[in-house]
Amino acid sequence: MKIRVINGPNLNMLGIREPDLYGADTYEKLCALIESHAKEKGIEVEVFQSNHEGDLVDFIQQCYQKVDGIVINPAAYTHTSVAILDAVKAVQIPTVEVHISDVSKREDFRQISYIRQACETTISGRGLQGYLDAMDYLIERSEKQNEQ
Ligand code: DQA
Repeated sequence: MKIRVINGPNLNMLGIREPDLYGADTYEKLCALIESHAKEKGIEVEVFQSNHEGDLVDFIQQCYQKVDGIVINPAAYTHTSVAILDAVKAVQIPTVEVHISDVSKREDFRQISYIRQACETTISGRGLQGYLDAMDYLIERSEKQNEQ
């Protein structure tokens, strides 16, 4: 099974940016956690981060027919990007939306998620663990599908 984990703008600043909201762990730590979780579960993973909307769209498009599941934290683009929503819809790959912080308890402008309608589920407010939970969701989903 192949999973891609995609992170949007400013998530490369984890550990530096607003640690009260996003924690003290760095982006490198997040990548290491994801990679070791994938190894433990026996799946293939690639982690990608960009601060640019078009690069995120390009990466999602490259997943078409190559990947079994996407975990995506579009960061600020969650609340603004129709282009990222359309890209996820286009590739028709099971996708999970992740947020490190609990966006439901934050500003009004964070209550809108464009991507949500293209995602099977949303995991929010579980810190970095949310990414691993999202991977588990996709692994279990694929196992169930293979049983059928
Ligand atoms: C975030 C929440 C977004 O509102 C914010 O713009 C981010 C990170 C999160 O992981 O909690 O950059 O997606």
